[in-house]
Amino acid sequence: MHDIIHQLDAKREKARLGGGQKRIDAQHAKGKLTARERIEILLDEGTFEEWDMFKEHRCTDFDMEQTQVPGDGVVTGYGTVNGRMVFVFSQDFTVFGGALSETHAEKICKIMDKAMQVGAPVIGLNDSGGARIQEGVAALGGYADVFQRNVMASGVIPQISMIMGPCAGGAVYSPSMTDFIFMVKDSSYMFVTGPDVVKTVTHEEVTAEELGGAITHTTKSGVADLAFENDVEALLMLRRFINYLPQNNKETAPIRPTSDPADRLDYSLDTLVPDNANKPYDIKELIYKIVDDGDFFEVQPGHAANIVIGFARMEGQTVGIVANQPMVLAGCLDIKSAIKGGRFVRFCDAFNIPIITLVDVPGFMPGTSQEYGGIIKHGAKLLYAYAECTVPKVTLITRKAYGGAYDVMASKHLRGDVNFAWPSAEIAVMGPKGAVEIIFREDKGDPEKLAAKEAEYKAKFANPFVAGARGFIDDVIQPHETRKRICRSLVMLKNKKIENPWRKHGNIPL
Ligand code: COA
Repeated sequence: MHDIIHQLDAKREKARLGGGQKRIDAQHAKGKLTARERIEILLDEGTFEEWDMFKEHRCTDFDMEQTQVPGDGVVTGYGTVNGRMVFVFSQDFTVFGGALSETHAEKICKIMDKAMQVGAPVIGLNDSGGARIQEGVAALGGYADVFQRNVMASGVIPQISMIMGPCAGGAVYSPSMTDFIFMVKDSSYMFVTGPDVVKTVTHEEVTAEELGGAITHTTKSGVADLAFENDVEALLMLRRFINYLPQNNKETAPIRPTSDPADRLDYSLDTLVPDNANKPYDIKELIYKIVDDGDFFEVQPGHAANIVIGFARMEGQTVGIVANQPMVLAGCLDIKSAIKGGRFVRFCDAFNIPIITLVDVPGFMPGTSQEYGGIIKHGAKLLYAYAECTVPKVTLITRKAYGGAYDVMASKHLRGDVNFAWPSAEIAVMGPKGAVEIIFREDKGDPEKLAAKEAEYKAKFANPFVAGARGFIDDVIQPHETRKRICRSLVMLKNKKIENPWRKHGNIPL
């Protein structure tokens, strides 16, 4: 018996070494942690239960039967993060470059299936050279098995991808279907085809980092949500992030008690909106001042910054925040911001997270690039997302709410539950100047008359009371009492229940 136990220890030791010390050293030399070191940081100490440590590939081509590494390039199992269950897979670059084989995929599928059954998030730590070339279609089939599970799990359990090395070709499509993608700067990249193929096909010279590095995807493409400096920071932030989320679509997010009073007043908010309607201010200041302890976890800060999205808490309960940002493009909605906002709203809706919408929007962005790019279709994504959404929706208009964009931003008409406005709100078809130039076109040569009409329009429409008179705004509130009023609204909405009609699925404009 003693011998067998000893053998087991030896087998485990071998599996833990992955591709061997030389490759582990090479991994460290690149500033990267190993698959197991990453899991140790991600999970609560001593909670990792590993599965399939001894699983081996079945490939016999290209002498592969002679190169068996127990675990086959991915470490899988479950454990806890701050006491809450998560399933995790961590690709081991030291074993065949973390390449995905049929058996490697089976290991991932096994934990995904169990995560679905027990209702717990799946976290993928990706570091892989792609499909295992020696296996051919068996590896490709493995990818598709994972894809299918990604889709079935979408909206059922949270799925988060942390890209910590290469992720290229077909490999990108599993993370792309997860809810959030985080990346590590300088050591991770994602692309459908690498720099060499790009050069051959389009004659563009581009480095891997430029083509698909963390900065590229968190600024230009918007594929990734956040970029971190190194493995350790990335994993610690992931631990923080997961705290905001529920375990699955049947639960609500955990309550994190706070000493920040729900009725806290903040008089500095009374002067946040400048007197001049064309002057910007930072909407994030409002966010920091109303949420619990000023703690806001922003996602996609560097992409489509004209809309701000992220998680915070009100009285300990997770909320999703969507806010127009007057500092960037005057807060206009454009293609990128509509897609960014729409996907976030749908995530919150799928996972029972109430949404607070802060509105200061002069309208949709004009121009040929927007029209040719399909702003009609893409803008509709945000509209569609808000309209189908059934979680509590609290909206506050701080200043401009013009035109169709007023409708889109969680207005009363799209089943906004509580719609507030500050006294500085202007709810109208468009700004006073533009409106007067259109309706009094024939007075173009009479600036005095135009100025008078502009003043009249301003007095009539550039306020929240016309909308208030129709019940489109539930109350006009003092800026300093914003937190208190939103907290009360969320308490009132706690047990809100509305259902959309049965259907296979809607047809959101893609
Ligand atoms: N299948 C099988 N083995 C692979 C692999 C794959 N897709 N990708 C990498 N490997 C192996 C390498 O053969 C190497 O093995 P070794 O340690 O026994 O020499 C090991 O993984 C590390 O790869 P290496 O190329 O030395 O690492 P790198 O950091 O210099 O480069 C990549 C990493 C991912 C850029 C490079 O390995 C690569 O281009 N891989 C192929 C990517 C691809 O085309 N995949 C298929 C499409 S999905």
